[in-house]
Amino acid sequence: MPLANLIGTSVTVACFRDMSPSTKLPIILDCDPGHDDAIAIVVAAQHTNILGLTTVGGNAPLSATTRNAIILRDLLGLDVPVHAGANRPLVQPPFNASYVHGESGLDGADLPEPSGPPESHDAVGFIIDTCRANEGIWLVPTGPLTNIALALRSAPDIASRIAGISLMGGGTFGNRTAAAEFNLWCDPEAADIVFSYGGPLIMSGLDLTHQFQALPHRIEMVRALPGRLAAVLADLFDFFSHTYQSRHKHIAGAAVHDPCAVMTLTHPHLFERSLHHVEIEVQGARTRGMTIIDQRDLREVPDPNCDVLTGIDADAAWQVVVDAIAHFSR
Ligand code: BDR
Ligand code: CA
Repeated sequence: MPLANLIGTSVTVACFRDMSPSTKLPIILDCDPGHDDAIAIVVAAQHTNILGLTTVGGNAPLSATTRNAIILRDLLGLDVPVHAGANRPLVQPPFNASYVHGESGLDGADLPEPSGPPESHDAVGFIIDTCRANEGIWLVPTGPLTNIALALRSAPDIASRIAGISLMGGGTFGNRTAAAEFNLWCDPEAADIVFSYGGPLIMSGLDLTHQFQALPHRIEMVRALPGRLAAVLADLFDFFSHTYQSRHKHIAGAAVHDPCAVMTLTHPHLFERSLHHVEIEVQGARTRGMTIIDQRDLREVPDPNCDVLTGIDADAAWQVVVDAIAHFSR
């Protein structure tokens, strides 16, 4: 990836400083597990320094996504706090994706009980305090952007303290509606706050993530690994791919969206990208939650605010996923 394609000095510094083997990139992973969120957690657990897992209602109600985050933390044996956050979007009513992830948010596998409750129910406070105490954190949201927006709105000073935000959401087509991707559709007002926050922003949208699918032979690579974690994740992939195949006319496996937001930080060479000005539609009756990606070749176009990921070396990225699962499969 040419350095010229990175937005702002802080991104350049962060990628170089934190890619060294001894210093892992510090992140807060804000998630709504969710099958693909689970994979994002696994990859982040190996390749980043997760300062905390914060949860948001999205794929399932907050109680379920928080429970799932704790179960995954336990399965991986991580010493990482889990903080529960927003149980509903800023404005519109909550909506869950049980049609993709099942009622639990992680249907399809025999999961253990969580080891205990979350460390707190104040994810927003945790994000603010952690960003104030540590400069150069990446926020990695893989669910609706409510927690991140609330943190930026309550503590605008953190915008210049973080290294950036690498999120999964948006794209030139939708999945919840024709125009809008699920995470941004769930809370468009929050997305609007995040996309206009003014610092480095990386977007893993559907154009990218639909290139990264849990194809049958890829799921078999996971199932072939030893240990309980690999078996659980292979079962989760099977369920996730089944729901995708039952809903789509033409897809060979589930789009594994969320780990892309992690891997673009830890394995940037696997991605293609281009800089654009991106805004969120918050009013359209048919387009609420849409990412307006300004691709016009006109001088009047506002300066880019977003590094839009456009391509992925899917086989190499899948190997990163398999290796991360193997790392924790004992
Ligand atoms: C996004 O929505 C959720 O269902 C997935 O976890 C992912 O974050 C894809 O639109
Ligand atoms: Ca998610």
